[in-house]
Amino acid sequence: MDPLMAFLSLLALYPAGYCPNPGISVGVVRTGSRFDLGDKVRYRCSSNLVLTGSSERECQDDGVWSGTEPICRQPYSYDFPEDVAPALGTSLSHLLGATNPTQKKKENVGRKIQIQRSGHLNLYLLLDASQSVSEKDFGIFKNSAILMVDRIFSFEINVSVAIITFASRPRIVMSVLHHNSRDVMEVINSLDNIHYKDHENGTGTNTYEALNSVYIMMNNQMQRLGMNTVAWQEIRHAVILLTDGKSNMGGSPKLAVDNIKELLNIKQKRNDYLDIYAIGVGNLDVDWRELNELGSKKDGERHAFILKDAEALSQVFEHMLDVSQLTDTICGVGNMSANASAQERTPWHVTIKPKSQETCRGALISDQWVLTAAHCFRQAENHTLWRVSVGDPNAQWGKDFQIEKAVISSGFDVFAKKNQGIPEFYGDDIALVKLAKKVKMSTHARPICLPCTVGANLALRRPPGSTCQNHEHELLNQQSIPAHFVALNGSKLNINLKTGTEWTSCINAVSQDKTTFPNLTDVREVVTDQFLCSGTGKDDNPCKGESGGAVFLERRFRFFQVGLVSWGLYNPCGRDDKKSRKRAPTGRVPPPRDFHINLFRLQPWLRQHLEGVLNFLPL
Ligand SMILES: *[C@@H]1O[C@H](CO)[C@@H](O)[C@H](O)[C@H]1NC(C)=O
Ligand SMILES: *[C@@H]1O[C@H](CO)[C@@H](O)[C@H](O)[C@H]1NC(C)=O
Ligand SMILES: *[C@@H]1O[C@H](CO)[C@@H](O)[C@H](O)[C@H]1NC(C)=O
Ligand SMILES: *[C@@H]1O[C@H](CO)[C@@H](O)[C@H](O)[C@H]1NC(C)=O
Ligand SMILES: *[C@@H]1O[C@H](CO)[C@@H](O)[C@H](O)[C@H]1NC(C)=O
Ligand SMILES: *[C@@H]1O[C@H](CO)[C@@H](O)[C@H](O)[C@H]1NC(C)=O
Ligand SMILES: *[C@@H]1O[C@H](CO)[C@@H](O)[C@H](O)[C@H]1NC(C)=O
Ligand SMILES: [Mg+2]
Repeated sequence: MDPLMAFLSLLALYPAGYCPNPGISVGVVRTGSRFDLGDKVRYRCSSNLVLTGSSERECQDDGVWSGTEPICRQPYSYDFPEDVAPALGTSLSHLLGATNPTQKKKENVGRKIQIQRSGHLNLYLLLDASQSVSEKDFGIFKNSAILMVDRIFSFEINVSVAIITFASRPRIVMSVLHHNSRDVMEVINSLDNIHYKDHENGTGTNTYEALNSVYIMMNNQMQRLGMNTVAWQEIRHAVILLTDGKSNMGGSPKLAVDNIKELLNIKQKRNDYLDIYAIGVGNLDVDWRELNELGSKKDGERHAFILKDAEALSQVFEHMLDVSQLTDTICGVGNMSANASAQERTPWHVTIKPKSQETCRGALISDQWVLTAAHCFRQAENHTLWRVSVGDPNAQWGKDFQIEKAVISSGFDVFAKKNQGIPEFYGDDIALVKLAKKVKMSTHARPICLPCTVGANLALRRPPGSTCQNHEHELLNQQSIPAHFVALNGSKLNINLKTGTEWTSCINAVSQDKTTFPNLTDVREVVTDQFLCSGTGKDDNPCKGESGGAVFLERRFRFFQVGLVSWGLYNPCGRDDKKSRKRAPTGRVPPPRDFHINLFRLQPWLRQHLEGVLNFLPL
């Protein structure tokens, strides 16, 4: 008899119960073999595996077992970011198998690190440098911490970062009491300068002492600000412990956590003022139980996990941040999570629906203004019928806004060069649309940063007093600059913007288009320096209906619009089938090329029409 048959006949020996045999998965030990109404079965994990799922299940009167099937996990196996992300909002007790995972928990405001422009966040980064963590893993902790710091400062919020490395003793690299803790450059500099070797003379793991130094820091700040002041009470605290657990000296770290909770007066109502995350990153042998114990235990949440690398942690960190309180018009903030919806990733993106012709795209540049292409509009049309569809968390297809007015560049005249043998000319292809109402800022609707404005200057973390020219140098600083536009289906597609000599060869493709421009003597008559050029190599090409959409870059987790989609030599979306996109065949004549209005070249026009809407820097 082969093994499978043996297994089947064994099952048949059990008497039929009220509930079916709940089975046993690999590594799980079950006690209880009666399956009648009210009977209970209990589970534990063999050796040092850790149980996930229900540790006890009861045969219920509907003939179904309560709870969920338990799984024993290797304590050192990884969490995947995509698994952790939803778990940041589901039950920790579910993870530990204590309750029924299907029961819905109330949404808890305190489950994430709140990003708010008012108020203050203290972020304490604790990096384990003890012997059980290798030098390589410490390097991963360090990189993870740098990524988190860079991201948290990208929101322009009031944040102070403490850095503590620890082994037998803690070493305070940066205190929240020091003014440098609010300066991203200083914080990253300090992180760059921490060394595993700093703890070579005491390689134990004193997690208690490390957390206690956080407690002392908090206490000092409280003394300084005054216990009953709003300044103290309104500070939110997030502790991130990068460790493998395994404390082996100094006593239970739990005591330090209890002291912190007491100091911060974390009672029910102030629950969202403290979050402690215990995270293992890298190829560590992690004490999962201790990690679980250190992390905050909040109703319906998870604060402990083990991740493969710094990149996985930065993905999870993305989900740890709650930007729902970010209600002002901070520009160029998109959701960087792999799982975010298209609109969450590019919340400035809008669809413009004139009465006739195909629709265009555009970009919110404030809470009431949209930047788009002039060729989307025909002057004669009645603007009252146009609609702009803006992202909205409560509506899958967005929310329609009426238009108060449209400002179409008077320099735009598609037939301006007809008698020069240029049938269509797209110089000054730019327009601004003022919505009839202000857009409520949300995760689905936010403006993009327009270079040469004060908002963009903050987002670029440049000193005050920077100029428009500085922005151009910073953003268009190479001959080939990776950039993006948004496709009809909402996906972010990739292009490379050419400058300098690469621009010159990029635009030369136009002279090969003998069908459209049979008599062309000078390419620059068609492609003036108002245009950015893309479409070489593996670049995506925009389709017709994508006109007016932003051409944008990412810098330091923020997004900047440098151009807008205007015209091209190749339309990858066929006339009939707009949904599918075709790559231009290799060797096609003319080769595909796309031209985008360069916003640095239209500064005077933008300044003229956006005065009082945006604060511009000197040219
Ligand atoms: C991410 O997307 C995948 C595939 O669409 C899905 O299975 C998973 O549940 C998603 N995770 C989150 C956090 O939404
Ligand atoms: C916090 O941010 C607000 C708004 O940006 C600012 O006015 C205030 O001075 C900041 N407070 C501190 C303590 O930095
Ligand atoms: C460790 O101890 C040695 C010998 O006392 C000393 O030279 C070294 O500087 C110490 N290392 C650190 C990081 O304190
Ligand atoms: C990104 O989107 C995810 C999923 O919707 C959300 O949980 C997270 O808070 C968002 N993060 C940011 C920074 O917007
Ligand atoms: C535009 O259409 C609206 C509604 O149909 C009408 O009331 C208005 O007079 C029209 N305006 C112009 C300039 O035609
Ligand atoms: C190109 O030049 C030829 C000869 O001068 C002329 O007949 C033709 O109309 C021109 N084509 C265009 C599109 O201007
Ligand atoms: C959207 O279109 C792009 C380009 O054709 C394609 O690569 C992508 O898979 C599409 N995304 C979805 C969600 O259909
Ligand atoms: Mg250790």
